[in-house]
Amino acid sequence: MKPQTSGTLIWDIPTRLFHWVLFLCVSGAFLSAWFYQYIPFLAHEICGATALVLIAFRLFWGFVGPAHARFSDFLRGPKATFSYLRAVFQRESPPISGHTPTGGWMILLLLLLVGAQASLGLFSNDETDSAGPFYAWVSHSTSNKLSGLHELVADCLMVAIALHVIAVIFYKVVLKEDLVRALLTGRRHGVPESAAISSHRLGLAIVILVVCAALLVWLIRIAPPLPSVLM
Ligand code: HEM
Ligand code: HEM
Repeated sequence: MKPQTSGTLIWDIPTRLFHWVLFLCVSGAFLSAWFYQYIPFLAHEICGATALVLIAFRLFWGFVGPAHARFSDFLRGPKATFSYLRAVFQRESPPISGHTPTGGWMILLLLLLVGAQASLGLFSNDETDSAGPFYAWVSHSTSNKLSGLHELVADCLMVAIALHVIAVIFYKVVLKEDLVRALLTGRRHGVPESAAISSHRLGLAIVILVVCAALLVWLIRIAPPLPSVLM
């Protein structure tokens, strides 16, 4: 008997894992910052640094990953983006195999914001006893400026995440499209079989992830040691 398939396979395993682990890391970074009295700073550093490695991985994956993970698949020009947006406001959801044109730009924004936030954190300090591992690579006043930006980008990131989740709910409630299910199972209904991906490229994903992680660990190891007193 032919096995029952529920939809066309569009999301590869690395892209799906990337998203849900990124969600955990970014949530962990926010929670550990908000409840810093109860959660050790190390947890904030680990969540943030892992998010950075994931973003570096995703940037490479956007060029060498399977079809729908590629930037060329979902970053469209303004004309295509606006005509898609118009269709959505008329409560139509034109069939798209991967990310939608508007979703694509939102995704790029999220990737850039998380990448910037985690990079800034590496140089930040809290004027008391916590500092990122790259703190001693810059002067104290530069670190303070970067810490200010770390706070600012955190606010922008929260707004972007809120819009992202609202968009997902809008698709579910108004357009009756379950994007979350697709990103969990990898499969989407109403997409032609010709748009299916044929491989997850797991081996390549592991190599890219290990290289990105090793690079960050190496940079942390060669960074000058933190002073015992910050100032
Ligand atoms: C920390 C919070 C979050 C961040 C930083 C984030 C970031 C992202 C990114 C970067 C992508 C693109 C995936 C890729 O192609 O690699 C994405 C897609 C997606 N996210 Fe999130 N996300 C967050 C939270 C959530 C939550 C809570 C949900 C569920 C309600 C969700 C549902 C989705 C869905 C369904 C997609 C695929 C959209 C599509 O089909 O085009 N995300 N997200
Ligand atoms: C996605 C990743 C990250 C998020 C969402 C995040 C979020 C935050 C937030 C919300 C704060 C509190 C800001 C405030 O006082 O209002 C904070 C503070 C801080 N974070 Fe992060 N962070 C991330 C990554 C990192 C990383 C990778 C490091 C270092 C390894 C780091 C180091 C710090 C430091 C030293 C502070 C205290 C200085 C300050 O208040 O700006 N963060 N972070």
